[in-house]
Amino acid sequence: MAKVRDMALASRGRHQIYWAERNMPVLLKIRERFSKEKPLEGLRVAASLHVTKETAVLVKTLAAGGAKVALVPSNPLSTQDDVAAALAEEGVDVYAWRGMNEREYYNAIGFALSLRPDITMDDGADLTVALHKLAHGIRDRTTDYVVEISGNLDFRELASKVRGGTEETTTGVIRLRALHREGKLLYPIIAVNESYTKYLFDNRYGTGQSTWDGIMRATNALIAGKVVVVAGYGWVGRGIAMRARGLGARRVIVVEVNPIRALEAVFDGFEVMPMSEAAEVGDIFITATGDIRVIRVEHML
Ligand SMILES: NC(=O)c1ccc[n+]([C@@H]2O[C@H](COP(=O)([O-])OP(=O)(O)OC[C@H]3O[C@@H](n4cnc5c(N)ncnc54)[C@H](O)[C@@H]3O)[C@@H](O)[C@H]2O)c1
Repeated sequence: MAKVRDMALASRGRHQIYWAERNMPVLLKIRERFSKEKPLEGLRVAASLHVTKETAVLVKTLAAGGAKVALVPSNPLSTQDDVAAALAEEGVDVYAWRGMNEREYYNAIGFALSLRPDITMDDGADLTVALHKLAHGIRDRTTDYVVEISGNLDFRELASKVRGGTEETTTGVIRLRALHREGKLLYPIIAVNESYTKYLFDNRYGTGQSTWDGIMRATNALIAGKVVVVAGYGWVGRGIAMRARGLGARRVIVVEVNPIRALEAVFDGFEVMPMSEAAEVGDIFITATGDIRVIRVEHML
């Protein structure tokens, strides 16, 4: 079963996926092997990931390995409707459309959990945290939305049957580590974000580039000559700062609370100062901290 924006978009989605496949030879090699060996036969996978052409290549690979996959978004704004339609056409249980509201977003998680997954895949931990809240009997607005679609399952039992999960991003790993510290994590999670091949590349170069792509598409701003302020000099922040320089920013200022990372920023040739000072001079502000209230009202006055 699937719920997507418009099945008529499927053919465009197939082309998108084909394009991504041409640039993902490693995953295609794995798919080739999976098709023969079927290592995931009989496994149910609930995936909360960006529903994009690249994720589609992953999902098709899991399916080739024999898995039954339910795919829902990890962000209500990143879904590519044509790709969702193409996956639905191939029999993947997709519940995703661009611009879902909060209720629809958590309904989608309910849809994925009703698959009674053996494995969860997450990007930001919304699905894993929702399942854990329900398994621990915690109810709030978001879990109410989940249950609207999943129904009142025995979530404790459901979680106990999950063999393991994956978490892709820094923020998700932080949330799950907190659960683990409180002794509440109910199954093992592979912190994909901790692998060299993730944070050294996706966080730094991938997000470094796509952040600027998003800003330029949204604002049509010319970056040359601007004063750019980047909060957080972690893997994402350093990619953004590096690309700001390449785009011709007049000054690139880093705001960082970790003194060693602040020092690295200085040695990499960036100015470092507190947000209270950067706020006076910056034209474009980007936070890449995983933290909240990095830019506050007092910085805007
Ligand atoms: N959208 C994407 O594609 C994508 C990809 C990777 C990471 N992320 C997200 O980007 C964020 C950063 O990821 P990362 O891998 O660079 O994390 P990181 O832990 O390597 O870096 C975060 C940095 O922010 C600093 N920091 C924290 N609070 C701060 C504050 N209040 N003021 C200034 N600095 C502060 C920390 O000291 C740290 O150096 C996370 O939320 C992560 O989930 C998004």
